[in-house]
Amino acid sequence: MDFSLTEEQIMIRDAARDFAQTELLPGVIERDEHQKFPAEQIKKMGELGFLGMMVDPKYGGSGLDTVSYVLAMEEISKIDASASVVMSVNNSLVCWGLETYGTEDQKQKYLVPLAKGEIIGAFCLSEPEAGSDATSQRTTAVDMGDYYLVNGTKNWITNGGTASVYLVIAQTDVAKGHKGINALILEKGMPGFEVGPKENKLGIRGSDTHSLMFTDVKVPKENRIGEDGFGFKFAMKTLAGGRIGIASQALGIASGAYELALNYSKERKAFGKPISEHQAIAFKLADMATAIEAIRHLCMKAAWDKDQHQNYDLSGAMAKLFAADSAMWIATEAVQIHGGYGYVKEYHVERLMRDAKITQIYEGTSEIQKIVISRGVLNE
Ligand code: CAA
Repeated sequence: MDFSLTEEQIMIRDAARDFAQTELLPGVIERDEHQKFPAEQIKKMGELGFLGMMVDPKYGGSGLDTVSYVLAMEEISKIDASASVVMSVNNSLVCWGLETYGTEDQKQKYLVPLAKGEIIGAFCLSEPEAGSDATSQRTTAVDMGDYYLVNGTKNWITNGGTASVYLVIAQTDVAKGHKGINALILEKGMPGFEVGPKENKLGIRGSDTHSLMFTDVKVPKENRIGEDGFGFKFAMKTLAGGRIGIASQALGIASGAYELALNYSKERKAFGKPISEHQAIAFKLADMATAIEAIRHLCMKAAWDKDQHQNYDLSGAMAKLFAADSAMWIATEAVQIHGGYGYVKEYHVERLMRDAKITQIYEGTSEIQKIVISRGVLNE
């Protein structure tokens, strides 16, 4: 078994690392403090090809594999998880969904500018009463012949205010349950489409999270993705890949926090020697390093499965579960190793700890991953 990266993968990783250090690190604390969206940085990420990494170059993408995407997500997330969630949603949920299931017209009109990063997209599934229980969609898309009439509310939508294109999951035929759900492409500015206020969040505060309100929004039939009733499966398939992106985000948060703690522990002296030479700290570092290695292997395995066109529902959910839960404790330990310094903003670890929490919640909570995994292993 060959664990080595290709030259191209190393180049992508190094480019992402360099970008994160030079473009994202300056100002990351202020953006977090003031909930400022990293607009300029996201524009540059688009120009560098980070927003449509796996999309075929004929649709404006970079044509890279999922392993490269994991590597880039880790590097960006080490420094700024607010920027990496924009990247993850645009790549995994929006571009992938359109490239895999969209019509040629939809790809030309929406995928090309999204993959080039000229515009960004949002994925709209969650509702006030349908976060985990995703089949209980209350947003309706009534079939009016040439168009759907969309009414309802979506909650906690990443890129909610800054996106131009929104993939919206809505119920067309309640009697058919999840088989009566559709996925529709909405554009900002469609009459009746309103963006609600920005959420004031615990973490990933630089990202742009909003509720969305739809009142009699007319969406042309040609904006439906897939056959009538394909919307729920579209959401599940898309989220399965999205989980690899969020697992890589958690990997980046964990490895970023670990590296800060490792460096700090070598510099900080207590009781006459660097704290890294006290076993209480050295053992924490050993546990953190071991868990990060395990997360990385799970992320790479899920990415490899996807690149080999194998089923990645299970490996993606396992990676997401373990990465998110581990990132939370690793970031908490990084704060602990920093002591009082860890509790103040200048040292970055408190932000990483707050950012880690969302990875246990979005794109399916850790409990949802356990549903997916347990169903998978029981059916094997
Ligand atoms: N691929 C294809 N089809 C799938 C699938 C998959 N991965 N998972 C489920 N399906 C299909 C099933 O086969 C079934 O179809 P049939 O009836 O034809 O067999 C149908 O979908 C319904 O499946 P279930 O009966 O398993 O549905 P369920 O109600 O039991 O729910 C669930 C399953 C896994 C809990 C699902 O509801 C789920 O994943 N919930 C979490 C949703 C989520 O991740 N939300 C996050 C929002 S997006 C976000 O967070 C983005 C962001 O901001 C960053």
